Amino acid sequence: MDVLASREISGLYRRLNTAAVAAPFVMRGGEGCWIESIEGERFLDLTAGYGVASTGWNHPRIVACVREQASRSLFAPPMLVTREAAELSHALLEVMAAPEEWRCVRATGGADANEQVLKAVVTLAERARVPRPHRVLRYERAYHGGTSAMLALSDIERHGLARPLSQAEHPCLPVPTSAEDIRLVTDLLECDRSVCAVMVEPVIGSGGVHPFPIPYLRSLRELCSARGVPLIFDEVMTGCGRVGAMLAAHLAGIMPDAITLGKGLSSGAAAVGAALVNPQLAGVICAAEDTTSTFAWSPLGCAVASETLRIIEEENLQARAAVLGPRLRDGIAALFQGVFGDRAVVRGVGMMVGADVLREAEGEPDAAIIRCALVRCRRAGVLVGASWDWKTMVLLPPLVMTEREVEEAIVRLGHALEGLRPR
Ligand SMILES: Cc1ncc(COP(=O)(O)O)c(C=O)c1O
Repeated sequence: MDVLASREISGLYRRLNTAAVAAPFVMRGGEGCWIESIEGERFLDLTAGYGVASTGWNHPRIVACVREQASRSLFAPPMLVTREAAELSHALLEVMAAPEEWRCVRATGGADANEQVLKAVVTLAERARVPRPHRVLRYERAYHGGTSAMLALSDIERHGLARPLSQAEHPCLPVPTSAEDIRLVTDLLECDRSVCAVMVEPVIGSGGVHPFPIPYLRSLRELCSARGVPLIFDEVMTGCGRVGAMLAAHLAGIMPDAITLGKGLSSGAAAVGAALVNPQLAGVICAAEDTTSTFAWSPLGCAVASETLRIIEEENLQARAAVLGPRLRDGIAALFQGVFGDRAVVRGVGMMVGADVLREAEGEPDAAIIRCALVRCRRAGVLVGASWDWKTMVLLPPLVMTEREVEEAIVRLGHALEGLRPR
């Protein structure tokens, strides 16, 4: 056991941090799909730290890369070009199959990447004399980050702080369930000339894993092109292999005008985000003063992100997510249906799975039962996540998960759910 016991560490943590975090155990570290507490308990992890540790916890190549990079160069200010940053931007545009004239924008994470794009679309809107106040079309249950501007575009109800002033100004669309729902967007863009962009998580992540129908995304692409409104794909969670392809945009067979990335991009070894943008947006960003963050794209961050992209490709992690993700989803669907019957709703794409239990058939999801299931899962040695309102069990496992680990996860989840009854 470590020198400090977990109770002492929790005490210290509470003094250091302003928020009361429900820390079920103190994490010592992880390896692959496993997390260990300082008491030596091992948990099969189906969260990857909310989609970050996509190449698994402490992948040996990432650890080696950090060591190697530390001996060379850790930090460089944003105004200096580094070999690591040049290599990463080249690799990102290649791997994500971005068109030749697209550019890469540096960021420290997902919200920061979205902010960079938002600033550019607003600038374009000003130039085009789009009527003010500029509004961004966004979706119910979306989450785009914790900065004020991104919270204004998110549907999160639980942040507990005063809502940013602009929140009410952005039209909020329901999550589409069929291609027909595009009519709502068509009508909105028809009557509201102040919309300067549409921002979409192609699979809503922390709002409970809601995949957008592919025909809907294609119609949205056509509509935005026809109206000259930039379409932004927030692929912070869906990108870098998680959906069974490098991007959800690839699954849909379309190219938005901007794609933002973060989370799994750096395997969690450094804070790295990026935006891939079309030439119009790139022109605005390049012409402006460099407004990137001080810590964006440090040599260390770039080195681990480039290594992460190589691992995803060389270990074929997207293909693995495409095969094993549905297997995990089907196993969980069978478990949930066995316990909750027709009140269970399980959905997913690749290694993103969401599971609800409805209060009554066709009713609202029951948050209390998911909270209870989470605790039981931990006791059964398997870690699962939840949507921000606890209505959905959210699974975002490391993409390195093996077939045996998928089976083991289903067995452990089965033990956890045994005897659980809805109220
Ligand atoms: C889809 C999406 N966009 C943006 C963000 C914000 O990313 P970050 O926390 O790195 O700022 C998140 C984080 O959960 C996310 O899921």
